[in-house]
Amino acid sequence: DWTMDAFLEQEIAQIRELVGETGQVLGAVSGGVDSTVAAKLMTEAIGDRFWAVLVNNGLMRLNECDQVQKDLKEHLGINLTVVDASQQFLDGLKGVSDPEKKRKFIGGKFIDVFEAEAKRIEDKAAASGKAGNINFFLQGTLYPDVIESLSFKGPSATIKTHHNVGGLPERMTNGQGMQLIEPLRSLYKDEVRALGRTLGIQEELVMRHPFPGPGIAVRILGEVSQEKVDIARKADHIFISEIRKAGLYNNISQAYAAVDPSRAVGVMGDRRVYGYIIVLRAVTTTDYMTAEAFEFPWDFLQRVMNRIVNEVHGVCRVTYDITSKPPGTIELE
Ligand code: XMP
Repeated sequence: DWTMDAFLEQEIAQIRELVGETGQVLGAVSGGVDSTVAAKLMTEAIGDRFWAVLVNNGLMRLNECDQVQKDLKEHLGINLTVVDASQQFLDGLKGVSDPEKKRKFIGGKFIDVFEAEAKRIEDKAAASGKAGNINFFLQGTLYPDVIESLSFKGPSATIKTHHNVGGLPERMTNGQGMQLIEPLRSLYKDEVRALGRTLGIQEELVMRHPFPGPGIAVRILGEVSQEKVDIARKADHIFISEIRKAGLYNNISQAYAAVDPSRAVGVMGDRRVYGYIIVLRAVTTTDYMTAEAFEFPWDFLQRVMNRIVNEVHGVCRVTYDITSKPPGTIELE
């Protein structure tokens, strides 16, 4: 008889056997469901011999880095190190407006920052007197990812470069003699959520929408700047808060506010102003290969529009993107 409790016990036993009495494990976390469940599972199995690293790329949602730190470290007891590299990311993105170049830079910088931190942790682990060094690398790979990499590369893999940590597992496991550990590789997404609940992870985190690795950078059309990141964050925060307040969060697969840096004309008070255009997007999907725009009540959209133009300085228009996928993609870039 298969139960999640039994599965959890078995996973923990397997991890302990694989890692041994002294082995140590390193893994990247993002605050998303998969990496959090994988990290909590490792913590249950081997405690502080699991090292989680969160790279703050400055492109996370409003207050998200602090929230993730609170959730993982304080609530879930995960041995987490946060690296603040936001300025490095922002500086490197200056002058870069091509979507694929933005993704490539962010992916590459992520690997550099992560590897530097891995070295520091390794030194720290060695100095702490705990025997052994870091010999495993954790990845939150799910069953659908396993299937996709075994079969052909579908359109999602070829149209855009799609990986949070593109190249990281290969670099960590080839160059540094680490063994890959993938405790979620037999699970579908809803099973990962169920496992998360069994592990005591709070419902809000378990049900969190996916968030792309390059974060807000692909939700700002063209060049990224601190000003545009701030605007995207504020507008997004209003949109997501209203979605939660209306009880719609779990009916939507993914939602965000993006910045179109073209300037539109508006009137504010008795003045003519030029402001950015906010594009709201919310979709429902089961596989993220096809998607439909979510049908909000009109008064909901009006409320969000009113709040954004009133509360977010520098914005004078709000639009709702009703494009399905295909032909549109879920992200704007
Ligand atoms: P698209 O925009 O291709 O997105 O319809 C499908 C799903 O993939 C996510 N996405 C990304 N995730 N790095 C990621 O980790 C990326 O560069 C990236 N681009 C898109 C998107 O959020 C959606 O869930």
